[in-house]
Amino acid sequence: MKELIDGIKNKIAGVTKNPGAVFGLLYPYIIVIGIAIGAYYIHNIDNISRQSVPPVLPDTTVVADLKVKNAVNVPPINIMEMKSSTPELLAEGEKLFKANCSSCHGENGAGGGPASMGLNPAPRNFTSKDNWKNGTKLSQIYTTLQEGLPPSAMASYDYLLPKEKFALAHYIRTNFIPNPDMDTDADLQALDATYNLSGGLKIAAQIPVKNAGLLIINENKSAEDKINSVLEYLNKNNSENGVKIFNKVVKNKNTAFSFLTKNPQWKQNENTFVNLIVNNVNQNGFNGNVFNLGNDEWSSLYNLMTKII
Ligand code: HEC
Repeated sequence: MKELIDGIKNKIAGVTKNPGAVFGLLYPYIIVIGIAIGAYYIHNIDNISRQSVPPVLPDTTVVADLKVKNAVNVPPINIMEMKSSTPELLAEGEKLFKANCSSCHGENGAGGGPASMGLNPAPRNFTSKDNWKNGTKLSQIYTTLQEGLPPSAMASYDYLLPKEKFALAHYIRTNFIPNPDMDTDADLQALDATYNLSGGLKIAAQIPVKNAGLLIINENKSAEDKINSVLEYLNKNNSENGVKIFNKVVKNKNTAFSFLTKNPQWKQNENTFVNLIVNNVNQNGFNGNVFNLGNDEWSSLYNLMTKII
């Protein structure tokens, strides 16, 4: 023991005499720490070199365009026919329940399905009439399915057709709920009025504004292309008889051609053509000279127009 203490004393004495010796004492530790840091670095090289901040931050200032939506056509239903359950409705309800609901409400409707773990509030146990929020009437279950019960895990099933919602409501009322409450006719009429069930619903399809804009541009572009090619033809063939007549009776070529492209009924026969031009002089890009045209001149003009438009 004494020797050990003497040894330490000697070392300390050596350090005070020669401070450079401190480095000798610490050297092994520095090497070990250096190796440890190096090993740690190599071990984690993937994580260290990977950028955790995305190089381009998402641009949150962009206003989202409309989404593509298919047209919705909800067929009207007769609510008084939906009032009582039929074997067909019950069979449809069973299929829908197994596909959409039993994961939470359980195959037997008592709650506790595999997806119900940890949900608070828990999915309703249909076999008891306690704690219902909307209630067990047909119209009340319909409302629950239409609106959901936010903020709980009970989502809205508004995308199901009205008939499918009735089928589900009948299925759980018939199979699980003991003595479910009965709707009055007024309850059902109110439901009908709220969701316009007897009127049905038609929602037009929707496409992004950007795409709609392109469609309009393309549509106008083809009309514009057509007018340009027609004008080119007139310039090249200005000695043709029909072209000479046209130049005499036209006030504004662009207006005249867009008028004729928008009212294609003149192509039926010469009479329709003459009437259309004569009855709309000035707005249609033609001038008063049309009143002086003889039959032959009308025919030449008509033939020219059917050829180039
Ligand atoms: C993700 C789990 C989940 C699914 C799937 C689910 N539910 Fe629910 N449901 C719940 C929860 C949770 C509640 C209770 C909510 C509350 O108490 O606020 C509930 C409550 C209900 C109620 C009681 C309404 C009331 O008046 O209290 C009905 C009826 C119901 N669900 C029907 C359905 C039907 C039919 C389907 C299938 C189309 C379905 N649920 C699918 C979680 C679910």
